[in-house]
Amino acid sequence: MLVNFTVIGGNASKGLAKRIARRLKAKYVDADTRTFPDGESKITFRHNLKKSVVLVVQSTYPPVDTNLLQILSIISEAKKISSKIYAIMPYMGYARQDRQFLSGEIVTMSVVAKMLQAAGAKKIIAVDIHSKTALRHFKIPTENVSAIPELAKYLKKLKLKNPIVVSPDTGGSLRAKKFADILKSDFITLKKSRNRKTGKVSIRSTKADVNGKDLIIVDDIISTGGSVVKATQFLKKQKCKRIFVVCTHGLLIGDAEKNIKKAGVTQIISTNTIPRSISKVDVSGVIAQAVQ
Ligand code: R5P
Repeated sequence: MLVNFTVIGGNASKGLAKRIARRLKAKYVDADTRTFPDGESKITFRHNLKKSVVLVVQSTYPPVDTNLLQILSIISEAKKISSKIYAIMPYMGYARQDRQFLSGEIVTMSVVAKMLQAAGAKKIIAVDIHSKTALRHFKIPTENVSAIPELAKYLKKLKLKNPIVVSPDTGGSLRAKKFADILKSDFITLKKSRNRKTGKVSIRSTKADVNGKDLIIVDDIISTGGSVVKATQFLKKQKCKRIFVVCTHGLLIGDAEKNIKKAGVTQIISTNTIPRSISKVDVSGVIAQAVQ
């Protein structure tokens, strides 16, 4: 059955939204956004919305709460003309706050889920969400699509000789294993721990035979870069050759990119869930496939 889609690009994800619209041969509607001096957003649709399945595309990277409020506003406006609204959040902020780690902590992911549903979202689509637990807070259908095959395709083109794929922590080992399987490469997992109070990352010494090998560290998110820097320092001590870093979401907060390069990483590659200079891999195809 031919579905009539309208794609609305929120301020944080216009480029990606246009690519998704092109792939679906859908009408693209721009959510023109002005920010006032006090930080408030004013959103104006440049075209009238017509009855259709509406796909609202907006990642919630920093400013996280502003981008979140914008997608909520767009969805609630789109609800006036459509009962089928999909919230496409390629990078979903707050997914790392999906459970209580320390007593007294608020599980903000659950609040985010309630707000998206209340605004009118009928389905959620995310890309490589940090944990599936985050999606369990929704009472509407959710789908997590993987950018790993696209990232692996990109790395294949670099034609590295017998590289070893590295997961910087046990939580990401399935993801990195999938990447290694596509590349038909060996795979190791490091044991990372993070102090829940200070956020300090440390790598517990595991024996890793990486001497003289090119390595590919695969992670879902690079935020401050602390995890990748620690992993790189550990792996360099084991006398590896070059280190490539691959992630789905390159948040790159502050000096993350500089610090990672300084630690000795040859190249950092991310997808365009967050538009950055390192965003070499396009996820519009996997998203378009998921909505069809
Ligand atoms: C943690 O479990 C995630 O998979 C990432 O490793 C983490 O969020 C990266 O954060 P940062 O770059 O600040 O170390």
